[in-house]
Amino acid sequence: MRAHPAGPRHGEIPADHTSVVPVDLNDLDPAVWPRGATRTAGVLDLAGNDVRDLAAQYGTPLLVMDEQDFRSRCQDFADAFGSAADVHYAAKAFLSSHIVKWLGEEGLSLDVCSGGELRLALAAGFPAEHIALHGSNKSQAELESAVAAGVGAIVVDSFDEIGRLAGIAEQRQSHAAGSNGSGHRIPLMLRVTVGVEAHTHEFIATAHEDQKFGFSLAGGDAAEGVRRIAACAGLELIGLHSHIGSQIFDPSGFEVSAHRLVLLLKSLIADHPELAESITTLDLGGGLGIAYTSADTPPPVDAMAKSLTEIVERECQSAGLAVPRIAVEPGRAIVGPGTVTVYEVGTIKDVHLDGGVVRRYVSVDGGMSDNIRTALYDADYTVVLASRSSDAPPARCRVVGKHCESGDIVVRDCYLPADLAVGDLIAVAATGAYCYAMASTYNRLPRPALVAVADGAARQLLRRETDDDLMRLETW
Ligand code: LLP
Repeated sequence: MRAHPAGPRHGEIPADHTSVVPVDLNDLDPAVWPRGATRTAGVLDLAGNDVRDLAAQYGTPLLVMDEQDFRSRCQDFADAFGSAADVHYAAKAFLSSHIVKWLGEEGLSLDVCSGGELRLALAAGFPAEHIALHGSNKSQAELESAVAAGVGAIVVDSFDEIGRLAGIAEQRQSHAAGSNGSGHRIPLMLRVTVGVEAHTHEFIATAHEDQKFGFSLAGGDAAEGVRRIAACAGLELIGLHSHIGSQIFDPSGFEVSAHRLVLLLKSLIADHPELAESITTLDLGGGLGIAYTSADTPPPVDAMAKSLTEIVERECQSAGLAVPRIAVEPGRAIVGPGTVTVYEVGTIKDVHLDGGVVRRYVSVDGGMSDNIRTALYDADYTVVLASRSSDAPPARCRVVGKHCESGDIVVRDCYLPADLAVGDLIAVAATGAYCYAMASTYNRLPRPALVAVADGAARQLLRRETDDDLMRLETW
């Protein structure tokens, strides 16, 4: 079964792009490439930087992030959702200290899902009160450091975690009493499993879900979780949260999830009237999709924001509730489209398939260590010849990496010019989300550098790993 971009459960065979020969192989579809991408004298140019110069200076593989693309997508979200909503960037898609600073400058909040992400955010100066901590198995140490930092919310995911947090709250309150301090309550959101799974063009609503995240709504765990939080004086429930999937194009999954969250909120308030005051936020999670190829047609951010806002307002009106603040947690939709990966072509091999078909295997100097998404999710990407243009006819290609594994595929089916040669640079679009974040040193390849480009200049956000870096864990 072919795996789906959001996980292997809902396999789906992607459109067969091998049958669609692009009209012009030099084209850069603006829906797929960074906002600052052009061709100048045939060469791919990113925010005023010739891709050949970037490759020469920083080496390949190289991730190149268009800073203005990132910032403008932050602004698109902030504008589309307006002041009645909170936009949290999901750090798991990609995080570095510079990204943390840009997010602060653009006025977004931040979601982290581990102590490591939290540490980086705090070290880069992000205000703790605008950070939410996620995770289905947060350790005692992660919870303690989040509470000590004063994060804006911890999104609780299990009864065990409520127990741990109750213990931390008790300790804090006894310390505060000893020192005559006030001892603020720990702000929590409850992650609700609403029985909806949405992926790209489809969503599935079922009575319950077979997955590790959240408290089941249908099974009553969500209501019990709220009861346990309400029973602990040191904890405060400030919101309900749900995340229904990733790479979503169709708002109808959010509609069902918002409907179920609002009904839950109504029944919770009936049982615990004080929650009407404290639950101020309905967090609909992340998952807004992007175009990896020209065949992908995600809705514009403002249309998605309008749908989500209308859905929550309508549901609250029909339930007779005040409309809470909405929160969303986009990762991919902010960081995905503005980054490209540049590779150098190392070997080219023609393989003869049945029926006289020839597939040209184009091997590059990276692969599944810098982009595991094709191997893991059967993800589809767009690739072009970057270091020059070409009028040569299209050749059916597969872009593969240099790892010792036949599943080491970067772009499964694509067309590149037939005169593609060893030493040419090629660029893969929309690699900003979950590529570097999921990178490994498989086969002891160093992780690539990541540079940000803006106004004709480039600066390294992350340097390339060195041989010494790769040796640093050895104890000899
Ligand atoms: N909020 C929560 C609670 C999440 O679990 C996620 C992603 C997000 C927000 C951000 O979702 P986004 O807007 O980026 O779709 N590695 C996979 C994606 C895994 C997403 C996990 N959760 C991939 O490469 O496609």
